[in-house]
Amino acid sequence: MTNTTDTAPTMKAVSQETLGEPDVLTEIVTERPEPGIGQILVAVHAAGVNPTDWKHRRFGAFLGEPPFTLGWDVSGVVEAVGLGVALFQPGDEVFGMLPYPYGAGSHAEYVTGPARAFVPKPAALSHVEAGAIPLVALTAWQALVDIAQVRPGQRVLVPAAAGGVGHVAVQIAKARGAYVIGTASAAKHDFVRSLGADEVIDYRTQDVVKEARDIDVVLDPLGGEDRLRALEVLRPGGILVSILPGGFGDVTARAAELGVRAQDMLVEHDQAGMTAIASLVESGQLRVHVSGTHPLADAAKAHAEGETGRVTGKLVLTVRP
Ligand SMILES: NC(=O)c1ccc[n+]([C@@H]2O[C@H](COP(=O)([O-])OP(=O)(O)OC[C@H]3O[C@@H](n4cnc5c(N)ncnc54)[C@H](OP(=O)(O)O)[C@@H]3O)[C@@H](O)[C@H]2O)c1
Repeated sequence: MTNTTDTAPTMKAVSQETLGEPDVLTEIVTERPEPGIGQILVAVHAAGVNPTDWKHRRFGAFLGEPPFTLGWDVSGVVEAVGLGVALFQPGDEVFGMLPYPYGAGSHAEYVTGPARAFVPKPAALSHVEAGAIPLVALTAWQALVDIAQVRPGQRVLVPAAAGGVGHVAVQIAKARGAYVIGTASAAKHDFVRSLGADEVIDYRTQDVVKEARDIDVVLDPLGGEDRLRALEVLRPGGILVSILPGGFGDVTARAAELGVRAQDMLVEHDQAGMTAIASLVESGQLRVHVSGTHPLADAAKAHAEGETGRVTGKLVLTVRP
C-alpha cells in the first residue's frame, strides 16, 4: 500500500489576533474551508471593503473577540459545491454577500457561503466591480425598496450620497422613478449628479433640514443628531430608514410626534435582492464607482484609507489577478 500524504489544502487569508489599528491585520496561511450542505466554495477574485470591516477590526462589534477573518462582499468563481446545491457548479462566476454578520470571511483566497447568497456575475462586470457591489447595494435595496417601498415621483433624500451606500442608493432610487436629493461636500457634487441625483446639498455649508423639504424617504447613514434632525424634512407619512441600528428610542419618539415613520435595519444576505441588483446592472441603471484597489496582503492599507470616512464609492481588495 502506498503512503499518501493527507495534507489539507491551505489558503491565504487576512486575520487578526487582537482588536485595534489596521496593523493588527496580517496575512496568514490557514486551512481551506469545505462547502457544507447547501453551500458553495468560492475562489475569491475580489472583495469589497466596508465600514463594518474596520468597525469589527477595531471594536469586535457583532463578532466579539478575534481571531477572525473579515469581509462580506465576494466576487469569484465556484470551486466546489456542497451536498444538495443545484443552482451552481464549479467554474460559475458568482457574486454575493455572505450572511451578515456571522458569515464573514471573504478577505481570503477561498470562502464558503450559502448558495442562495449568490447570483451569477453579470458578464459586463469585472470581478473588482462585482466585488464592490453586494453589501452596499443590498443595503440600499433593502432600505429603499423592501422597507420604504419607494414609488415613482417620491422625493428621496440620500445623505452621504458619494459614499459606498449613498452612491448606489441614488441610482436605485432613480431607477424606481424617484426625485433624488443627495448630500456631499462641494468637490463631490459633480460625481453625485453624474449618478442621476436631481439636487445636491453641500452639507458643510448648507443646512440640509432647510434645503430639503417634503421628503417621502430618507436613507440615514449618519445616525446621531443628523438622524434626529433628518426627521424634520419628512412630509407626514414619510419614512426614515436608518442603517445605523440601535439607540433608536429618541428617533421613534420624535417620529411619532411628527407623524412620520422611522425604521432601523441591518443588511441581510438576499438572493432576490442580488437578482434585482444584477438586473439593474445589466440594464445600465446601476454602476459602481471603485475609487481604489489593494492586493489582499495590503488589507491594512485599505482599512486605513476607508476609515478616513472620505472615500468616494468603494475600495476593493484584489485576491486573484
Ligand atoms: N445597517 C447596515 O446594514 C449597514 C450597511 C452598510 C453600511 N452601514 C453603515 O452606513 C454608514 C455609511 O456606509 P458607507 O459604506 O456608505 O460609508 P463610506 O463609503 O465610508 O462613506 C464615505 C462618504 O461619506 C461622506 N460623508 C461623511 N460624513 C458625511 C456627512 N456628515 N454628510 C454627508 N456625507 C458625509 C463622505 O463624503 P465627503 O467627503 O463629501 O464628506 C464620503 O464620500 C457606515 O457607518 C456603515 O457602517 C450600515
